[in-house]
Order: sequence, then C-alpha cells, then structure tokens
Amino acid sequence: MALNRSLKIAPSILSADFANFGAECEAIEAQGADWVHVDVMDGHFVPNITFGPSTCAAIRPHIKGVMDVHLMIAPVDPYIDAFAKAGADVITAHVEAGPHIHRTMQAIRAAGAKAGVALNPGTPASSVEYLLDMVDLVCVMTVNPGFGGQKFIHSQVEKVRQLRAMIGDRPIHIEIDGGVDATTAPLVVAAGADVLVAGSAVFRGGSVSNPAPYGANIKAIRDAVLSTTV
Ligand code: DX5
Ligand code: ZN
Repeated sequence: MALNRSLKIAPSILSADFANFGAECEAIEAQGADWVHVDVMDGHFVPNITFGPSTCAAIRPHIKGVMDVHLMIAPVDPYIDAFAKAGADVITAHVEAGPHIHRTMQAIRAAGAKAGVALNPGTPASSVEYLLDMVDLVCVMTVNPGFGGQKFIHSQVEKVRQLRAMIGDRPIHIEIDGGVDATTAPLVVAAGADVLVAGSAVFRGGSVSNPAPYGANIKAIRDAVLSTTV
C-alpha cells in the first residue's frame, strides 16, 4: 500500500478562538489546511486541560478533511471508543501514557480509526520499534506537550531521521508537533517528516473575521519547505 508522503499542514486549534471552534476549523480549511489537529489534554498527563470527546463531536461537522486527534491523556484506553465515535480519523496516544501502548494501538484500530503513537522529547525512537507494524502515524513532539507557542527542540531532528530509517517502506506518516514555523519546517521535512502540526505559526495575526493571515502563514511554511527541497 503506497502512502502519500506529500507535505501536509495540520493547524492545531489549540491556538484558535475556543469560543468559535466550528468557524475556526472552516476558516483554516478554506485557507489551505490539509488536516485539522485537535489537542486533547487532561491536566494529569500534561499540565493543562483542554476538552474531550463531546467537543470533538461538535466540531466534526465543520471539518471536511482529516480530524487528527492528539490525546495527551492517561489512561487512554477507556476513552478510545468515545473519540472514534466523535469522528476522529486519526487517534494518537503517547508511548509514555501507560504500560500497554501495544494494546492501545490495537484498540484504536479496532475502533475504526488510524492509529498514531507520539513520543515526548525525552523518549528515544527505539521505544516505538515494536509498534511499527501496527501504526499509521508516528508523532515526534518537538516541544514538551501541554502548551502552544513553545520553542522548537532541535535535538529531535535526529530522532526524525532515525525513525524515517526504522520505518523503511511501511505506510506510516511522520508528524511533527511543536514549534513548527517557516524556519524549523524545512529541517524536519528534510529529515523525513510529512505532516507538520502548527498552532501559533498558523493562527498568528488572523481571526475568523480576518482569515487571510491563516492562508499566508500556511503558505509561508509550505514555501519555506519547497524552497529548501528543490
Ligand atoms: C502541544 C500541542 C501542539 C501545540 C503546537 O502540547 O500538542 O499541537 O498546540 O503549538 P505550536 O505550533 O504553537 O508549538
Ligand atoms: Zn498536538
């Protein structure tokens, strides 16, 4: 099965107007977003709280493309069915979230979603070695999860390179999450990433009533990647 490794920009609605998620999702898709990245935080696995499956279900009708749900919660397994029913296309859980990540990946696929596994910056690439035949996406955190607007951690670029080599020709996306902008995007794409999550770098300067900056910000990231890869 061939996987489309073309560049995909996935704006994180963590940087959107929380009072207006539906319109924000529509605005970023109209402005060129490929996927919509949805950050779920529990105040336990990470030091911040966002929202849960009901919010995901509420925004689902406002997203035409891929709803990419990033679970920063522990435990994960009791909530998988709820996020799948809410319409998540991809459900990503952290390898650090519990002792049974293998079972978690099985459960995500059994619920009918694509399975993603995320690694915190301190977690080595080898931690997902025995999961690679059962996942659709590996998410490399390039900040410590919990908040938008943090600085990109450069040591993670080498981890992306290692994962790309480990993955070989398996149909697995490599997603980057945290501190992605026009400066850092080319580094991770060159190392093998194809899905770029970006919160602050996409939403900065725009709003639902003035969405053009979203499009310009997405284009700036895309152009920066293109100009360094051709
Ligand atoms: C961090 C979240 C990210 C975050 C990215 O915990 O998982 O998706 O919103 O935001 P920026 O692009 O601002 O680093
Ligand atoms: Zn995220």
